[in-house]
Amino acid sequence: MAKNNVLKVVNVVLLVLIINQAATGMLARKLPHEVFEWGHERAAFVLLVVAAVHLVLNWNWVKANYFKKK
Ligand code: HEM
Repeated sequence: MAKNNVLKVVNVVLLVLIINQAATGMLARKLPHEVFEWGHERAAFVLLVVAAVHLVLNWNWVKANYFKKK
């Protein structure tokens, strides 16, 4: 799959994971412990991995915009 198509999928997955993290975080006290454990604590690890993949796939943009040669 072309990099751009992979990014389209990764971006949507990342958005869903961020919304899930915020929602389960705000409902932490109301959710059963096991649901919080999987939906927030373990999902946090997946979120960090997908965020890293997102950064790697956008690395050319990061280099061009943050590490520009003067
Ligand atoms: C709006 C965003 C977030 C909210 C409102 C939130 C809220 C919370 C709350 C209230 C707890 C404690 C639950 C308890 O001890 O009963 C917690 C734990 C935790 N959160 Fe979040 N969180 C958010 C985002 C994140 C993000 C972005 C990550 C990591 C990528 C993360 C990872 C964790 C982890 C690993 C724990 C367990 C910590 C432990 O066991 O001591 N959270 N969060």
